[in-house]
Amino acid sequence: MKAPRPHLVAILAQSLDGKLAAHRGQRPHFLSSEDQRHLETQAARQQALIMGAATLRAYGTSLRLRDPELIQSRMARGLPPQPLTIICSSSGEIPEELPFFRQPLTRWLWTTPAGSRRWQGRPGFAEIWVASDWDLTARLARLRQRGIDQVGLLGGGRLLGAFLQAQALDELWVTLAPVLLSGYPAAPASIEGWQLQGSPPRLELLECRRGSQELFLHYRVEWP
Ligand SMILES: NC(=O)c1ccc[n+]([C@@H]2O[C@H](COP(=O)([O-])OP(=O)(O)OC[C@H]3O[C@@H](n4cnc5c(N)ncnc54)[C@H](OP(=O)(O)O)[C@@H]3O)[C@@H](O)[C@H]2O)c1
Repeated sequence: MKAPRPHLVAILAQSLDGKLAAHRGQRPHFLSSEDQRHLETQAARQQALIMGAATLRAYGTSLRLRDPELIQSRMARGLPPQPLTIICSSSGEIPEELPFFRQPLTRWLWTTPAGSRRWQGRPGFAEIWVASDWDLTARLARLRQRGIDQVGLLGGGRLLGAFLQAQALDELWVTLAPVLLSGYPAAPASIEGWQLQGSPPRLELLECRRGSQELFLHYRVEWP
């Protein structure tokens, strides 16, 4: 029997040729205000948001809900104003001067023994969970035991690849942006490091919305 875990929804925007940004060390330059609004709306439905450390280092911040109506509707449902933010970092190399540490968020870190040593005795993260590898099945089961049932994945592609490897994804929101980026040699792909054996998951299209420039696609993920 599979270990119980929260419901997992990935929310990402990619170029038509499947890239997340022009360069791995940079945030994407192609995101519209309409996509930002979409991201915030989907994120507001989650109890926790998980982000890869490379994404955090590229952005300097994590997602913070700003729309008072979204915050209000969370609070009416008994949720805190902002989702819990969980950063995945093997190395623990997250500069303390990043604006992320000044955002009004509750921050947790999922890391390795080496990564956790960097944070010993330092503030920044309310909780640090340590495992020698990704250990997603156990971490997600523990999250569920802590009452967290609904989780958003904010990327990037290596984070998403690790979750797919663990068959830990239930829904996928992809914004298709009208840009081509694979001409850049270091453009990160929307999924990386996933090695599939056997049949791929089945994707059922739940919604397809046309924005003024982008397509907003919503899929259910079913594992064989
Ligand atoms: N368009 C979009 O919607 C979107 C969304 C997100 C990101 N992006 C872009 O995507 C790029 C970054 O994506 P990416 O695929 O390179 O990286 P990523 O998925 O953001 O980060 C992967 C992280 O996983 C961490 N990791 C590895 N093993 C781990 C373990 N055992 N436990 C915990 N954490 C572990 C690594 O941390 P360490 O490196 O610290 O060891 C690594 O940084 C950036 O350019 C960003 O701007 C775009």
